[in-house]
Amino acid sequence: MNDREMQTIESLHSIIRNAFAELKLPSYPAELYQPISYTLSLGGKRLRPFLLLAATDMFEGNLNEAIHPALAIELFHNFTLLHDDLMDQAPLRRGKETVYKKWNSNIAILAGDTMFALANRQMMLTRVDAIPQLLELLNVTAAEVCEGQQFDMNFETRSDVTLAEYMEMIRLKTAVLLACSLKTGAVIAGASQRDADILYHFGINIGIAFQLMDDLLDLYSQEEKFGKVKGGDILEGKKTFLYLKALELAGSDKEELKLLYQSKDLSKEDKISEVRSHFDRLRTRDATILEIHLYWKAAKDTLNNLSLPEERKTILLSYCEDLMVREI
Ligand code: IPE
Ligand code: IPE
Ligand code: MG
Ligand code: MG
Ligand code: MG
Repeated sequence: MNDREMQTIESLHSIIRNAFAELKLPSYPAELYQPISYTLSLGGKRLRPFLLLAATDMFEGNLNEAIHPALAIELFHNFTLLHDDLMDQAPLRRGKETVYKKWNSNIAILAGDTMFALANRQMMLTRVDAIPQLLELLNVTAAEVCEGQQFDMNFETRSDVTLAEYMEMIRLKTAVLLACSLKTGAVIAGASQRDADILYHFGINIGIAFQLMDDLLDLYSQEEKFGKVKGGDILEGKKTFLYLKALELAGSDKEELKLLYQSKDLSKEDKISEVRSHFDRLRTRDATILEIHLYWKAAKDTLNNLSLPEERKTILLSYCEDLMVREI
């Protein structure tokens, strides 16, 4: 292993910014492409392209071969958000009106479909010999994300969802895409199959921790910072980790919490605040933070198995560390 200089968190972000600035979208029909430009212009954390580039850089791969796949995965992610907001009836994303609210449902569906097609095309702009494997990985992942989303919706109307079922649901809807990003970056760099799979496994663990944190922030963040409507999961009857853990901890109050969560009689504000007072009493927030730490610890343990010198893991580790202690 030679000692090629590593990128920094900032330099990787700047590569992503430039790549999006250079991404040329058609302008016609405007009804289709404007919502896509709007969505992409609102940014977000760019977590998945970052993970992809960081993985390529770890193995001293050619970042030029990783840029289009990084765009591909972010386009795919943004497509899922357009459809997710429609399914979740969410009015706010990244602090702005969601696409289906600003335009309409049909526009959100079609703009999303187009981004999926664009994602597949971007994924083909890399090392030719890696394309079949990467397209297969992207599309296997895409079907898994849809499976996770279906479970997420099925759970809204079920009252017997277990924590194990929830964990599998978030592995599918969220974690596999982070894992796919990391593995894609490793494959582009020509890492061994073993190392690529280790990074995939790392991605599953941070992905689960990431979704647990997302559930937590949905209720406890400041709306301006998080950019989504506070308490949205409660209003949609989502079976989040907070809710399922609260049921587990509730003892004899379990039925009361279940009824409250299903109730349609309260105002939005009252429902959120009443559910929240149950969560507070049961210390659900602490239990969630503990679970996040467990998955983050498992992720770090996984990374120890990677056949790389420690210093080549530091960017990924420090970036993920920040992600795990996001401000509430
Ligand atoms: C939101 O993803 C959807 C989840 C999987 C929780 P992000 O939190 O990565 O959203 P952006 O891209 O930063 O807006
Ligand atoms: C996100 O789940 C999963 C996907 C978008 C595939 P959420 O529904 O919790 O995501 P947010 O909170 O709307 O970003
Ligand atoms: Mg949502
Ligand atoms: Mg959702
Ligand atoms: Mg959420």
